[in-house]
Amino acid sequence: MTIVTGYPNLTDKGRIIAHRGASQAAPENTLAAFRMAQEQGINWIEFDVSLLGDGTPVIHHDDTLDRCTSASGPLSAIGAADLPGLSAGVTHGEAFAHEPLPTLDAALDLLGDAGMFANLEMKPHDQPRGRIASVVRDALQTRDWIKDRIIVSSFDHDELAELRESMPDLALAGLWTEPEDGWRKRLTELRAAALHLHYTHLSQSLLNEATSYGFDVRVFTVNDLRVMKPFRDLGLTSIVTDDPPLFLDDADWATWAKHGSH
Ligand code: G3P
Ligand code: MG
Repeated sequence: MTIVTGYPNLTDKGRIIAHRGASQAAPENTLAAFRMAQEQGINWIEFDVSLLGDGTPVIHHDDTLDRCTSASGPLSAIGAADLPGLSAGVTHGEAFAHEPLPTLDAALDLLGDAGMFANLEMKPHDQPRGRIASVVRDALQTRDWIKDRIIVSSFDHDELAELRESMPDLALAGLWTEPEDGWRKRLTELRAAALHLHYTHLSQSLLNEATSYGFDVRVFTVNDLRVMKPFRDLGLTSIVTDDPPLFLDDADWATWAKHGSH
């Protein structure tokens, strides 16, 4: 296993990262989607962490239950006691009808056991300032493998700063749709290892600037083989996609895509 530069501990940067797990083949942000990614040959996933009303961290993107679960209404209206009997697999038919909405603990247990790597994205929604950073910190601090295999990102950079205060060795990434002026200063203040952005806002000059200052660059969410080709061999670190086999099974992409995978 190679120790990469730029991170104190993270032992693999990942090339292809399964967005919300392998979310084309399985329901997004479920344990089934995490396992599916590994079956597809991917050891890196991205997933979203949101809080229930009682503060329980769960793997969920939206601030409501409507799009991805068998229930409806705000996520903050339910607590851990409501999770049994709720399906998070409704987007992918009968085969996933009994797929639970995972807690962060369940997700970390699976990743730990499976030896997988992950980009954990904090989604504070309308929770009080600092609450998600503190809950995520509590979950991460109980596991000794975290600093080797997890990078945490968020569009909310204040939550990242909160997390940084208590976890000096954790790999962090600043997340933007389109990086604003001052992105480099923000990453430096956070002691972040990486810049994560929407692929439509990547340019050669931005990639050059980020990599020349030692930041890795990851783009989301790329489900088309052609769009990243100009950047592939020019220093792009990773691509976040709903459909990893698109890249892994393509003759032109396979060598790059599998580099460093375990
Ligand atoms: O972390 C990359 C990407 O997941 C950010 O956007 O909305 O899919 O969470 P979103
Ligand atoms: Mg996300």
